[in-house]
Amino acid sequence: MNINSLYIILLISVISRVNSTNISKLLKRNIEFDAEKFYDNLSKECIEENQNSEISNNCIPSITLSNYKEKCASIKSELCQTFYNDPNLTKYYPICSQFPQYKEYFQPSIFNFFKQNYELDCLTDENDNLCPYFLFRITKGDTSGVLENNCKSKKCTESTIKLLKNINIDQFAAYENLSFTSGSFSYESLTLPDTLISIMESDECKSMHSNNNNNNSNNNNNDTSNAKSIKINNNILLIMLILLIFFY
Ligand SMILES: *[C@@H]1O[C@H](CO)[C@@H](O)[C@H](O)[C@H]1NC(C)=O
Ligand SMILES: *[C@@H]1O[C@H](CO)[C@@H](O)[C@H](O)[C@H]1NC(C)=O
Ligand SMILES: *[C@@H]1O[C@H](CO)[C@@H](O)[C@H](O)[C@H]1NC(C)=O
Ligand SMILES: *[C@@H]1O[C@H](CO)[C@@H](O)[C@H](O)[C@H]1NC(C)=O
Ligand SMILES: *[C@@H]1O[C@H](CO)[C@@H](O)[C@H](O)[C@H]1NC(C)=O
Ligand SMILES: *[C@@H]1O[C@H](CO)[C@@H](O)[C@H](O)[C@H]1NC(C)=O
Repeated sequence: MNINSLYIILLISVISRVNSTNISKLLKRNIEFDAEKFYDNLSKECIEENQNSEISNNCIPSITLSNYKEKCASIKSELCQTFYNDPNLTKYYPICSQFPQYKEYFQPSIFNFFKQNYELDCLTDENDNLCPYFLFRITKGDTSGVLENNCKSKKCTESTIKLLKNINIDQFAAYENLSFTSGSFSYESLTLPDTLISIMESDECKSMHSNNNNNNSNNNNNDTSNAKSIKINNNILLIMLILLIFFY
């Protein structure tokens, strides 16, 4: 086989990956957060501390369609950025800091992982609407056409690639290693960032960029449609849900 035919075969296999990639297959869930184990012996005071915490409410929020503007702004705040960089448990949660599961949980690598997930969730297109790929993560909605729609926006495509390139697989291992998580990330989950990057860097994806600043209002303007009214209080649990949306 000469180089040219090899090239053609590669080209054929790359063509149409945007359309044929089945996101729901890639996002199969295989790691669980054991809430019972985590909440098992927390004191009332600790639970209250968590519920009233400025950090819990602003920096570890559950992002929904109805609150994303506010929450996406708050995760960029100095308070939260300082916290993500140095999640000092005794400073932010003096009461809960006595519990071993909190000690285990408050590692920079875990919160860096969350921070990156929040940044991805908050990406917006040319018209300041949430990017299709992450809109789907938030709503857990229909996955069909998600990649195509994301490719339609140049801004979504480029900012997604940029953030995905920063994701460090070691953080997945740290999360997997927590004593209150069980299971492990699948090979597909671990390679998901790279898979998405290669799809979004493909010529096929680039060719889908709309050259006019077309407004994807049909895709993502309906703020009420799928909004899930998840309670804000159990933030630690909720962040896990957000994470699982990524891998479900
Ligand atoms: C994608 O995968 C899911 C789960 O494996 C399956 O139910 C669905 O039918 C697939 N969709 C397509 C378009 O192949
Ligand atoms: C809480 O439970 C964990 C195991 O689930 C245990 O390691 C820890 O010592 C317990 N903490 C307290 C304060 O009872
Ligand atoms: C965490 O914060 C406490 C209280 O503000 C401080 O005494 C401690 O040195 C900090 N720990 C680290 C590792 O920065
Ligand atoms: C997993 O946990 C063990 C002990 O709890 C620790 O020694 C090890 O470094 C951890 N591995 C990772 C990748 O975080
Ligand atoms: C966006 O699309 C809607 C309906 O599809 C249209 O009414 C509106 O004028 C468009 N806005 C822009 C900025 O193109
Ligand atoms: C949003 O979606 C709901 C339910 O799908 C629908 O009833 C409503 O008319 C939509 N609103 C807009 C502004 O499109």
